Amino acid sequence: MSTHDAVEVITAKRDGGTLSDSQIDWVVDAYTRGDVADEQMSALAMAILLNGMERPEIARWTAAMIASGERMDFSALSRPTADKHSTGGVGDKITLPLAPLVAACGVAVPQLSGRGLGHTGGTLDKLEAIPGWRAALSNEEMMAQLESVGAVICAAGDGLAPADKKLYALRDVTGTVEAIPLIASSIMSKKIAEGTGALVLDVKVGSGAFMKDVDRARELAEVMVALGTDAGVRTTALLTDMSTPLGLTAGNAIEVEESVEVLAGGGPADVVELTLALAREMLAGAGRDDVDPADKLADGSAMDVWKQMIRAQDGDPDAPLPEARESHVVTAPATGTLTRLDAMAVGLAAWRLGAGRARKEDPVQAGAGVRWHARPGDAVHEGEPLLTLLTDEPARFERALASLEGGYDVAPADADATAAGSPLLVDRVG
Ligand code: URA
Repeated sequence: MSTHDAVEVITAKRDGGTLSDSQIDWVVDAYTRGDVADEQMSALAMAILLNGMERPEIARWTAAMIASGERMDFSALSRPTADKHSTGGVGDKITLPLAPLVAACGVAVPQLSGRGLGHTGGTLDKLEAIPGWRAALSNEEMMAQLESVGAVICAAGDGLAPADKKLYALRDVTGTVEAIPLIASSIMSKKIAEGTGALVLDVKVGSGAFMKDVDRARELAEVMVALGTDAGVRTTALLTDMSTPLGLTAGNAIEVEESVEVLAGGGPADVVELTLALAREMLAGAGRDDVDPADKLADGSAMDVWKQMIRAQDGDPDAPLPEARESHVVTAPATGTLTRLDAMAVGLAAWRLGAGRARKEDPVQAGAGVRWHARPGDAVHEGEPLLTLLTDEPARFERALASLEGGYDVAPADADATAAGSPLLVDRVG
């Protein structure tokens, strides 16, 4: 005899009630085992989206998701661990320079990543543009690489929070992704189960993010920081702008190329700024705020770790990256100042060019994506390149161009233009 039944749990939340610990433990476990049907969990997810959850309910739900799978343990490593999670953005390649940079500062980075779905790219898709690189590592390989190189970026195995894997796929097709309790428990169950000692959350806010407004982004950050802290993970969050895409590229190979520029001491200023800000949070959480990560970018040691990290996973860091077969240039419509470049428009264009996937089994094109040649605040000249669209399949240009319509503004040189561009670092929680 089970202790509860699904309809009782669904109706309790439907009617605005608070779920008990035992109801939560039961429903998460029964759903993972297949005893609660998808349609029942869909109804419960919608009731949670509409009626919310109290903080203790979210904490219990997170614990139940962690208990659905294995927990990793890095306490045997010779250095402290720190990880970063981004809620997802356009041109967000920060994990690529960040992981080797933090490792070069003496803190191990166990970064379990995912693939992109929809308009935001996936870290693994980007790294797979590097010839030979492999995402799948066993737990033993991961541990050995953390000890020898200090940084690992690899696919999360099936053993970690399997309840989340099932529930996330269901939310994706039932309009229930946006519930703060469900996002917070989904992200934090995986990070807590992963066993990192410190965690920084990059909570994106703006048109290209899940959270379009700053109050909801702050609420999500506060819930996640509390969940991490209560579970013994030193957790902080930065709220960062995602109304403009990061850097000058969105795609796979072209984002790797930009990350390598950052590791070589160059790269776009916003990518460098965010990489350093997140590195400082991770180092502080791991007790190593005596090290300045800017020094490790400047002296080449972060680049050395990058090359070791790529080689350890069978990639060739010196091999040429794949390039798209076709390109299409969009020119500036006027001479003046670029005042807006919309993250969602660019993300959708990159996705439609083949950099992302519509279904999780779809392949991605390594060379596809969008390069932009100016950022908000920069001068542009009529007829000169503003964006370059890249793909192997020219039939994709039309739909990509359609998504860019209305996605940028140029103020003529004689207008009284105040160059836009929101500040990159919006707030800090923790
Ligand atoms: N990322 C996750 O892992 N889970 C969510 O629910 C949203 C973003």
